[in-house]
Amino acid sequence: MVFHPTRGDLPARFGPGVPAAPPIGPATLDADVYRDPARYELERERVLNRSWQLICRSDQIADPGDHHVWEGHGESVVITRREDGTLAGFHNVCQHRGARIVRESGTGARRFTCRWHNWSYDVEGNVRGVPDRPDFGKDLLTGLCAPGLDLAEWGGWVWAVLAGPGVAGSLEDWLGKEIAGDLGAFRMQDMRLAEKVEWVVDVNWKVCVDAFSEYYHAQALHEVPSTDVKDARHSTIDVFGRNGMMVVPVMGVLEELRETLDHNALATCNYVLFPTTVVNSTHLHTQVFRAVPLAVDKTRFEAWELQYVTDDEEYLDYVEMSWELYKSIVAQDVEEWTDVAAVARSSAYRRSILSERECLITHFHRVCEDMISGGDGLGLRP
Ligand code: FES
Ligand SMILES: [Fe+2]
Repeated sequence: MVFHPTRGDLPARFGPGVPAAPPIGPATLDADVYRDPARYELERERVLNRSWQLICRSDQIADPGDHHVWEGHGESVVITRREDGTLAGFHNVCQHRGARIVRESGTGARRFTCRWHNWSYDVEGNVRGVPDRPDFGKDLLTGLCAPGLDLAEWGGWVWAVLAGPGVAGSLEDWLGKEIAGDLGAFRMQDMRLAEKVEWVVDVNWKVCVDAFSEYYHAQALHEVPSTDVKDARHSTIDVFGRNGMMVVPVMGVLEELRETLDHNALATCNYVLFPTTVVNSTHLHTQVFRAVPLAVDKTRFEAWELQYVTDDEEYLDYVEMSWELYKSIVAQDVEEWTDVAAVARSSAYRRSILSERECLITHFHRVCEDMISGGDGLGLRP
């Protein structure tokens, strides 16, 4: 038996009374948001470090002492499973003279030791061992620890706020009940990671998120047949807090979808989880696209393929074939970014023009802008 997601009692996101799109309308966007180094520094501080971001699968650190080293936007963190099953995590930065403490993910850790001068840390990031301790005097070492992270688990994923606890509120609130309910119906926590593919691309991280927040490019870039595109014209788009959602009827299901209104069972459901993740779910499998900013013009783009756990050969064969096809489609998006990179600094690229069907991009950038200006990215009027 393969788990089959259904809408159940969740609100309808398609059909009578559900608007095709929120009243955001067409808009323009300054090109500098993708290429200004000063802007990137502000994003690091005020957006990326102050948001809940997806780090790794929970089962990558299943047992006590398992630890995961994650690096992105100039930060390095280490996250560990405690004896009681909860998570501990801290910035992977030696408080002595600023070396990375742990190089690689691993298992069985109780202490982490910096190889430079052998300072050691417990799993909470507290400095425990200092060779020749009296030479430092007392004051500088008392209570010293590597700054901690806010951590949570949801959907079989580990999530973190790098700026620490109390900055971004709860993960539950960050995702919001609409997204958590709808995406929750796919039960990512019951899926297994079939494959993770990575590319390092020469574009700003937001280019990657934008690319997975609209369907408009499917006909041209992915050469999707016009019948599919016609059905996809009936997609619904909505925003919930900082996040966005799109329900795209896939070819051949439109009539059935209109009857049952069960988008979780029948449509492609696309969730833009501010700031760096887009989840793409169908009843068969789920892809998680994650942009990890590396520099203003460099991004590690990750695609994670999740499949339901079963020994149903027919399902497994089909879903594998579907994922192979998906990978080739994603490779087309990645390839297109070479053309975006080629003119990112051109004097002739001054702004982007966004249609009302690209409004999840508009909304995303407005949230970014608000957080950079000191807001929380909520309460924006479409
Ligand atoms: S820099 Fe880590 S022990 Fe000196
Ligand atoms: Fe695409």
